[in-house]
Amino acid sequence: MYRLLRPLLFTLSPERAHHLTFSLLELAKYIPGALALVGGRTPQQGASVEVMGLSFPGPVGLAAGMDKDAKHVDALSRIGFGFIEIGTLTPVPQPGNEQPRLFRLPKDRALINRMGFNNGGVQDAIVRLKKRSLGIIVGGNIGKNKNTPNERAIDDYVKCFDALHAVVDYFVVNVSSPNTPGLRALQEKGPLLEILRELEKHNEKASKPILLKIAPDLTNEQLDDIVEVVKESGIAGVIATNTTISRDGLATPRSEVDAIGAGGVSGAPVRYRSTEVVRYLRDRLPRPVVIIGVGGVDSAEAAMEKIEAGADLVQVYTGLIYEGPALLKRINNSFVQWRNPK
Ligand code: FNR
Repeated sequence: MYRLLRPLLFTLSPERAHHLTFSLLELAKYIPGALALVGGRTPQQGASVEVMGLSFPGPVGLAAGMDKDAKHVDALSRIGFGFIEIGTLTPVPQPGNEQPRLFRLPKDRALINRMGFNNGGVQDAIVRLKKRSLGIIVGGNIGKNKNTPNERAIDDYVKCFDALHAVVDYFVVNVSSPNTPGLRALQEKGPLLEILRELEKHNEKASKPILLKIAPDLTNEQLDDIVEVVKESGIAGVIATNTTISRDGLATPRSEVDAIGAGGVSGAPVRYRSTEVVRYLRDRLPRPVVIIGVGGVDSAEAAMEKIEAGADLVQVYTGLIYEGPALLKRINNSFVQWRNPK
């Protein structure tokens, strides 16, 4: 079904296509059988994963950025996702960068985005999350407002953390978006430890797992620092990875890529680097530290590559744009077969 819809969607600007798709998804919720027709269905028994004290119905989640404001959590949870990550949310609503800010690179099965944390702010999301169906695992991905200087970034993370604490199941500290000036400097060991330690202090009662989301552009030495930070702060784990600022190895002509300008590349071009990061971290961070693998998961094979490299769970964003919800069923099936070989 999505195969039929995709050519139409690809004639629209990526942001329009995004809004139309979500309107259709919301409509489909009310038509019996319609969500199954789109290609998705809730994960089957045998696909569940127990980590961080949570029981995920399936191993594949929605990556942050697609449902930033938690508007579609219920519908998304019915097309095959085992969990939904909302955000990145900031304390105060902000419009993000000027449009156009999202671009398709079909030759690369990739996207470039410089959205810049457009979101309606943490308070609006809370109102919606209070109404969501029980039993859906929701992660709260949190960041800082563009106008907050890095020296005060910690205040923004704490504000989002405290506000969302009662309505999400796990947290993600996002310090790896390339589209908020200076944000990635917070991936340095000093500022990072300060933020995570402060959040853990606010987490003492009814503790919720905290994960750190990192960029694929970190060097191995920087990854070694991340390993130290995870061990020293005692957080639950890492999400690897966000989009890349690299433009290497793209099939799209250089002139087209240059004309698009700044932003993070997602999809197939980031697949191998993000798997490498997963493997590097898993070699140094044994379980129960959790690793969620994300970047270029656009097939069951790509998902299993991350799981075999040491990821406990995976997430998708760009793969969903190119493949539609049937991708989720394919990943869930492969995962169940891999777990129970005949
Ligand atoms: C993202 N991503 C993202 N990540 C994040 O932590 N907070 C965010 O707000 C966003 N926003 C966002 C917008 C758009 C348009 C895209 C394409 C991506 C990054 C996303 O969650 C994921 O880490 C990367 O896109 C890599 O995965 P895929 O897309 O290759 O499956």
